[in-house]
Amino acid sequence: MKHLIDIKDLSVKEIDELIEIAKDIIKYPEKYSDKCKGKILATLFFEPSTRTRLSFESAMLRLGGNVLGFSEANSSSAAKGESVSDTVRVVGGYCDIITMRHPKEGAPVVASSKTIVPIINAGDGGHNHPTQTLTDLLTIKCEKGRLDNLTIGVCGDLKFGRTVHSLITAMIRYKNVKFILISPKELEIPEYLKKEVLDKNNIEYIETQNIDEYMDKLDILYMTRVQKERFFNEADYIRLKDLYILDEEKLVNAKKDLCIMHPLPRVNEISVKVDEDERACYFKQAEYGKYIRMALILKLLDIK
Ligand code: CP
Repeated sequence: MKHLIDIKDLSVKEIDELIEIAKDIIKYPEKYSDKCKGKILATLFFEPSTRTRLSFESAMLRLGGNVLGFSEANSSSAAKGESVSDTVRVVGGYCDIITMRHPKEGAPVVASSKTIVPIINAGDGGHNHPTQTLTDLLTIKCEKGRLDNLTIGVCGDLKFGRTVHSLITAMIRYKNVKFILISPKELEIPEYLKKEVLDKNNIEYIETQNIDEYMDKLDILYMTRVQKERFFNEADYIRLKDLYILDEEKLVNAKKDLCIMHPLPRVNEISVKVDEDERACYFKQAEYGKYIRMALILKLLDIK
């Protein structure tokens, strides 16, 4: 693997290896503190981010390396009209590895053809977010002890939520994984995912608009934010944004070992009172993101 653009770039074996490295980093952080000495990570973020950008930066610093980059398009020469291709070609000369977020779907693929250093997709439009998926897989493995035999409820904006698209694509490769897809009609998962990913691989799934209906069956509940920035019409966003709010009442029938996840940022879709519930895993999930990104940097730089 040279770049990570799509979660499908990784085989199940490679994902399992990354998870094992991340678990080892959690256990023995000192073993890794110098592994990237002299290496530089560039973070090119053309869209806002807290977790992805800062966890990448923290990951590289924890590995003993250095970081440079920008956190918004306006503070780079993109504001003067420079193309993504030219930006990465130049930045590739300043660093050893690049992680990039861009509002245009496919921008990281273009970038990967223009530079000699590895490119990591840190989110491209409403398309993919493979390092969030690696984060999610590490979270599930650590919190549930397995990646198979799971019923996963995915709730909210399944149309524009790129984390959902990457998660479903990754999880279908594990045995006996079922999905309960909870969303309003307007925010259902895209047809290509239903046809090319779920149907084609004979994956069991149910679509519902009711968050309560299957709550007692879920091993994982993956909540998502309605993606305001992807709507063309603000009135539609306002109508849909508060349809699902997970609170203590909704969890009454849920399993005792349910794992509640959310890629964050959260707006209203999980009540802050749920944060105190021991089934709430979303802040731990954000922390797991740092460890799996450390493992990914090591893998892409071929550092043992
Ligand atoms: N989960 C996630 O991608 O968060 P940020 O947008 O803060 O990076």
